[in-house]
Amino acid sequence: DINLGCPARKVVAEPTPAGAGLLRYPERVEAIIKAVVRAVDKPVTVKIRAGWDSSSINYLLIGRIAEGSGASAITLHPRTRAQGFSGRADWSMIARLKESVSIPVIGNGDVFSPEDAVRMMRETGCDAVMIARGALGNPWIFSRTLRYLESGELPPEPTVEERFETLLELMRLMIKFKGEERAALEIRKHAGWFVKGLPNAKQLRVKAQQIRSYSELESLLKGYLLTTPTPGGATASPR
Ligand SMILES: Cc1cc2nc3c(=O)[nH]c(=O)nc-3n(C[C@H](O)[C@H](O)[C@H](O)COP(=O)(O)O)c2cc1C
Repeated sequence: DINLGCPARKVVAEPTPAGAGLLRYPERVEAIIKAVVRAVDKPVTVKIRAGWDSSSINYLLIGRIAEGSGASAITLHPRTRAQGFSGRADWSMIARLKESVSIPVIGNGDVFSPEDAVRMMRETGCDAVMIARGALGNPWIFSRTLRYLESGELPPEPTVEERFETLLELMRLMIKFKGEERAALEIRKHAGWFVKGLPNAKQLRVKAQQIRSYSELESLLKGYLLTTPTPGGATASPR
C-alpha cells in the first residue's frame, strides 16, 4: 500500500515530500505507482487524502492516475492534509471517486461503529471500509462489523472482562516484542482506550498511566472488577 495520506510535518516536508505531500506532485505519484507495480508481483494499492488543501482538492485526478498506473485498489480518507483530523470526513467524495474509477474503492474516515460502516457503504457505494481510530481499544469493531454486514444483526459489545483480557493479551504480546519496560509505557495509552465508556473510567485511566509492569496492570484490572459495579448493577467478578 502506497501511503499518500500521512499528514505528519516531517513526512510531507520539502524537498522530498512523502505521504500527503506527494499529492501536490501527480506526475511523481504516477512514476512511483508504475515503478512499484513493475517491481512487485503483489497487488499494489494506494491510500490518499482529498488533496493538499481546500484549494487543491485532486483526489479524482490522483484516483485516475492510480488506476491508470496499475493500482489494484484505492483508499480515500476524504480530508485534506491541511485539515489533519479536524472537521468531518466528506463521504460524498468517496461516492464521486467510486463513480470515476473501476478499481475497488475503500472508504475511510470517521467510522466508529458497525452502523457507521454500513452507512458509509450505503451512502457511497464503496467496496470496502477501512477503520483506524475506531479500532483503538476496540478491536472487536472488525468482527462486529463483519457480522452486522453479513447478517444484519448487531452483535453485543464486549463485556468488561473481555476488554480486560484482551488488554492483558495485548501487553503480553508487546512484552514479547519490546520487553516489559517498553511495553509498560506503551500499554498506558491503550489502557486508556480500552476502558473508554466504563464506569469510573477516568480514575482507572489515571491509575493506568502509572503502570510499570504486567502484574501491576493485572492487579489494577482485577481490583476494578472486584470493586466497581457494572452497568447492570452487579459487581463484575474476575474469571
Ligand atoms: C495512530 C494512527 C496511525 C496511522 N498510521 C497510518 C499509516 O501508517 N498509514 C496510513 O495510510 N494511514 C495511517 N493512519 C491514518 C488512518 O489510516 C486513517 O486514514 C485516518 O485515521 C482516518 O480514519 P479513521 O477516521 O477511521 O481514524 C493512521 C491513523 C492513526 C490514528
